[in-house]
Amino acid sequence: MTIASPSLALQNAMREIMAEMDRQFDALLPIPDDARGNLYRAMRHAAIGGGKRLRPLLVFATARLFGVDRQAAARVATAIECIHVYSLVHDDLPAMDNDDMRRGKPTVHKVFDEATAILAGDCLHALAFEVLADERTHPDPFVRSELIQCLAHASGPAGMAGGQMMDLEAERASFDLPTVTRLQAMKTGALIACSVEAGAILGRVVPEGRTGLKGYARDIGLAFQIADDLLDVEGDENKVGKALRKDGTAGKETFVSLLGVDRAREQARMLVDQAIAHLHNYGAEADLLRDLARFTLERDR
Ligand code: IPE
Ligand code: IPE
Ligand code: MG
Ligand code: MG
Ligand code: MG
Repeated sequence: MTIASPSLALQNAMREIMAEMDRQFDALLPIPDDARGNLYRAMRHAAIGGGKRLRPLLVFATARLFGVDRQAAARVATAIECIHVYSLVHDDLPAMDNDDMRRGKPTVHKVFDEATAILAGDCLHALAFEVLADERTHPDPFVRSELIQCLAHASGPAGMAGGQMMDLEAERASFDLPTVTRLQAMKTGALIACSVEAGAILGRVVPEGRTGLKGYARDIGLAFQIADDLLDVEGDENKVGKALRKDGTAGKETFVSLLGVDRAREQARMLVDQAIAHLHNYGAEADLLRDLARFTLERDR
């Protein structure tokens, strides 16, 4: 695939968010001096030092449109990344994708063990909601409860976990394109959409005012998953930091298996253009969101 490097503004923002997320997780997860040590070490192994931090960036880039306080955005970004990281820890387990590498490091169940990986995922899940419910995230309890509702919905059976269930079925069933689209919108799209929506919630944008942002998020969510499927076929394992060529081996129905590489990429390009078109009400303040839309597809990791 053509690799375009992210814009300078996006590169700088990524560097900043990566450092910010590592700081947040480091502060949230001090290792206790008791029998839970390995549980915390496992959470730190999963959460610190790696990943593109796309969802946190989306929270920041959206919050910035509405002049949201940086600390509030950082806490919400951390909560959403907690859910994402937990989903990766569980996704890699032998009962699911059985993967040994993640973010260029051995997976949590390889470094520790399966039981610890399951519990580390459980704890990251709980931590997400603890962070959102905390007064330091937002002084208004209505804003906090809307954030909690948004993330809970995106994580559960109507979102990520439901999509993961369908994804497991995709190895046995032969899904058509609308079904794969729905699966991916849940598995990957829901958390990406929640990241954008959370920025709008923090910005106190009323639900009717979120239409353009929602359209943007839906389109980049799908483009992002098509890129993940394309990387599975064409990517470089050393850059991506995880095992590739897995979907085909597992006989899993994806955008690429249904459309082929060229049409899948074409579809993703169209989605990126459409996502950017959804931002027409915003000016230069939304340029980072536009850059992010392009990055979802042009990335090589
Ligand atoms: C990987 O997500 C799993 C999917 C939802 C496709 P990312 O590609 O965002 O993984 P990291 O956070 O950069 O490791
Ligand atoms: C997993 O999708 C998405 C999650 C919700 C964790 P994949 O199984 O395709 O993700 P990778 O390719 O292992 O990162
Ligand atoms: Mg999987
Ligand atoms: Mg996987
Ligand atoms: Mg994948």
